[in-house]
Amino acid sequence: MAAEVESQYNKNNPFLARLTENTQLNKAGSAKDTRHFVVSIDGSDLAYSCGDSLGVFPLNSKEEVDAVLTALHASGDELVVLPRTEDEIRLQEALTRKLSLASPTRKSLMVFAERAQDAAEKAQLLNLLEDENKESTALFLSEREFIDLLEEFPSVRFSPQDFVQGLRKLMPRLYSIASSPVVHAREIHLTVAVVRYETNHRERSGVCSTYLSDRVSLNDAILPVFVPKSHFGLPEDGSTPIIMVGPGTGIAPFRAFLQERVATQASGKNWLFFGDQHAATDYLYGEEFEAMKEENHIDRLDLAWSRDQDEKVYVQDKMIESGATMWEWLEAGAIFYVCGDAKRMAKDVDAALHQIAQEHGGLSEEDSVAFFKQLKKDKRYQRDVY
Ligand SMILES: Cc1cc2nc3c(=O)[nH]c(=O)nc-3n(C[C@H](O)[C@H](O)[C@H](O)COP(=O)(O)OP(=O)(O)OC[C@H]3O[C@@H](n4cnc5c(N)ncnc54)[C@H](O)[C@@H]3O)c2cc1C
Ligand SMILES: NC(=O)c1ccc[n+]([C@@H]2O[C@H](COP(=O)([O-])OP(=O)(O)OC[C@H]3O[C@@H](n4cnc5c(N)ncnc54)[C@H](OP(=O)(O)O)[C@@H]3O)[C@@H](O)[C@H]2O)c1
Repeated sequence: MAAEVESQYNKNNPFLARLTENTQLNKAGSAKDTRHFVVSIDGSDLAYSCGDSLGVFPLNSKEEVDAVLTALHASGDELVVLPRTEDEIRLQEALTRKLSLASPTRKSLMVFAERAQDAAEKAQLLNLLEDENKESTALFLSEREFIDLLEEFPSVRFSPQDFVQGLRKLMPRLYSIASSPVVHAREIHLTVAVVRYETNHRERSGVCSTYLSDRVSLNDAILPVFVPKSHFGLPEDGSTPIIMVGPGTGIAPFRAFLQERVATQASGKNWLFFGDQHAATDYLYGEEFEAMKEENHIDRLDLAWSRDQDEKVYVQDKMIESGATMWEWLEAGAIFYVCGDAKRMAKDVDAALHQIAQEHGGLSEEDSVAFFKQLKKDKRYQRDVY
């Protein structure tokens, strides 16, 4: 839960922190690239609590900015006024630090269509804007960034100012903090999946995750960060049992919770669910958790390796397998936490909880809905999902 004393640093005035560690958590042969980052907040009055997130302002990559400048026939030295502000800065700086070069919209296509000098390009753009093509145009847009449009429609000409006018602000990204301030007061640990994929025959990189993994030099005070307020965290009473479900990068806050509970000798029972593709390569912080299990700091540890057998096994399958015990823990006052993918995982975990309440608590469907609604109100069902 949010640190108690407000720092002078916030979203509008981020602290320039140092990245001091950048290590890969997956072993050789993994399909994933998940990094452990350590950010030093030494030299600031920033403080954090277990369960907080770190806000990070990224930069766009030099390659992407250079490609856009080339397509605009601009040098980058041109002065532009940032949209919806009076701030005048160089185009290169605006494209690097201030504006998103991703996610063009239908409105962007309209602007391109108005400016196309070539008849065939104009016709193609107008065709994309036809109502009957809404679905295929949505797909077209989802596979493109601004550089694709500039290169596919080279007859469209922009002044630097007109181009930046159509761009949105480059937003900070949030990362769940993977360390406890009791153990690491002046460091913030992060667990970040490096986003890389291909669309429209182009390799894409997530702006912030690759900024952290590839472009921030270690130990330079250049990483703009802040700690926003959060409603996710450990109970004050260390004797409260907790159930933590965090597959993939969702493990981050639970590493922090466990660190803190060990350091404060909290007596409450801890049940951790983790899952990822393969046990051999993707057991993030596996050695730490196995040691904690060995020393009885983790009472129950359930692991779901989705791709180590023909059938997928997910964390919610493990929850259902131990449904009776989970219901006992909930009845004994346990807090239930889930962190990670919002679109699929957190929904399926929620459905598994309802199934458990119905099968083992004897609740009707209606009563289980009311039960978890109340649990959320009581802060006993907390979600940090994205
Ligand atoms: C409260 C909170 C906590 C979070 N904690 C963590 C955390 O601990 N660890 C972590 O790694 N992330 C975490 N995230 C997510 C994080 O904030 C970023 O969204 C993530 O790192 C991606 O940012 P990016 O700038 O690298 O990618 P972006 O440049 O924002 O690109 C991401 C976008 O790329 C597209 N995309 C991604 N993969 C594909 C694909 N395979 N095919 C097509 N399109 C694709 C999607 O449109 C996606 O929205 C958290 C988010 C929130 C809100
Ligand atoms: N909203 C978002 O943009 C968002 C959120 C989370 C993750 N991601 C992206 O996904 C990539 C990796 O993320 P991550 O490392 O955190 O792991 P992840 O993709 O969430 O995967 C972790 C584990 O969860 C499994 N899983 C998949 N669907 C599930 C479901 N419905 N219920 C339960 N478990 C499920 C995965 O199995 P299988 O893969 O074998 O099916 C894997 O074993 C990154 O590129 C990240 O950016 C995006």
